[in-house]
Amino acid sequence: MAEGEEEVNYASWWSHAFWTFLIQYSAGRRRFQHLACCLGILCVILLGGIIGVCVYLTLIHESDPNRFKENSSLRATNTKLSLENANLTRDNKYLTHQLGNLTQAYNVSERNVKDLSAGVQELTTKNQELETEKKNLTQKIQNLTTNWNELSISRAQWSIDSYCLGNADKKCKPCQRGWLLSQPSCYAYINAQPANQKTWEEAQGDCRGKNSDLAVAHDSEEKEAINENGLGSNGFWIGLRVEDGKWK
Ligand SMILES: *[C@@H]1O[C@H](CO)[C@@H](O)[C@H](O)[C@H]1NC(C)=O
Ligand SMILES: *[C@@H]1O[C@H](CO)[C@@H](O)[C@H](O)[C@H]1NC(C)=O
Ligand SMILES: *[C@@H]1O[C@H](CO)[C@@H](O)[C@H](O)[C@H]1NC(C)=O
Ligand SMILES: *[C@@H]1O[C@H](CO)[C@@H](O)[C@H](O)[C@H]1NC(C)=O
Ligand SMILES: *[C@@H]1O[C@H](CO)[C@@H](O)[C@H](O)[C@H]1NC(C)=O
Ligand SMILES: *[C@@H]1O[C@H](CO)[C@@H](O)[C@H](O)[C@H]1NC(C)=O
Repeated sequence: MAEGEEEVNYASWWSHAFWTFLIQYSAGRRRFQHLACCLGILCVILLGGIIGVCVYLTLIHESDPNRFKENSSLRATNTKLSLENANLTRDNKYLTHQLGNLTQAYNVSERNVKDLSAGVQELTTKNQELETEKKNLTQKIQNLTTNWNELSISRAQWSIDSYCLGNADKKCKPCQRGWLLSQPSCYAYINAQPANQKTWEEAQGDCRGKNSDLAVAHDSEEKEAINENGLGSNGFWIGLRVEDGKWK
C-alpha cells in the first residue's frame, strides 16, 4: 500500500510540478514575449540608425572626393585666371602707353602733313605766279621780236630810201642823202637856228638816233674833213668836250 501511495504521491508531485512548470512557464513566456518584443523594437531602431549612418557615410564618401576635386579644380582655375588677369592688366598698361605714343606720333605727323600742305599750297601759288610771269615774259619776247622785225624792215626800207632812192644815176651811195662823204666816213653838219640849238648831250642823242655819233677826228685827215664840212658861223659840237677842265 505504501508503495502505491508513494507512487501516487510521486505521480501527483510530478503532475503538480508539471502544472506548476506549465503555469510558471506560461507566465515566463508572456514576460519573455514582452522582452522579445522590446528587444525587437530596439533592434529595429538600432538597425535604422546603422542604416542611416551608413547612408550618411556613403553619401559623404561619395560626395566628398567630388567636392574636393571640384574645389581643387576651381582653385586651379582661379589661379590661372589670376595669372591671366595679371597678364591682361600688364598688356593693357603697355597698350595704353603705346596708344599714347601713337597718338603723339599721329599728332606730329598730322602737324607735318599740315605744314607740308601749306608748303605745297604756297609752292602752287608761287608756281602759278611764275607761270603768269613766264607768259608775260613770253608775250614780251614775242612783242620785242615783232617790234625788232618791224624795225628791221623799216630800217631796211629807210636805208633803201636814204641811200638809193632819188639819185640821178639810180645807184646807191655810200652816204645817206644830205650827208657828205669824206673817206672813210660820212658827215652831216646840222646848222640849227639859235632857237633850235641843242646842248652837247642833246646833240649826241640826236646823232645816235640817226645811227651815228658826234664827229671825232681820229687822224689829221678826219680833222681836216670835219673842219671843212663844219664851217659855219654858229660853231658846232664834236665828240670831245671839256669836262672838269679836261678833254673827254
Ligand atoms: C575648398 O578650398 C577652400 C580654400 O582653398 C577651403 O577653405 C575649403 O575648406 C575647401 N572645401 C572643400 C570641400 O574641400
Ligand atoms: C603671361 O605672360 C607670360 C609672358 O608674356 C607667358 O609666358 C604666360 O604664359 C602668360 N600667362 C597666361 C596665363 O597667359
Ligand atoms: C613710347 O615712346 C618712348 C619714347 O618716345 C619709348 O621709350 C617707349 O618705349 C615707347 N613705348 C611704347 C610702348 O612704344
Ligand atoms: C594730340 O592732339 C590733340 C588735339 O590736337 C590733343 O588733345 C592731344 O593731347 C594730343 N596728344 C598728344 C599725345 O600730343
Ligand atoms: C604781266 O603783265 C601785265 C601787263 O604787262 C602786268 O600788269 C602784270 O602785273 C604782269 N604780271 C606779272 C606777274 O608780271
Ligand atoms: C604785247 O603787245 C600787245 C599788243 O601789241 C599788248 O596788248 C600787250 O600788252 C603787250 N604785252 C607786253 C607784255 O608787253
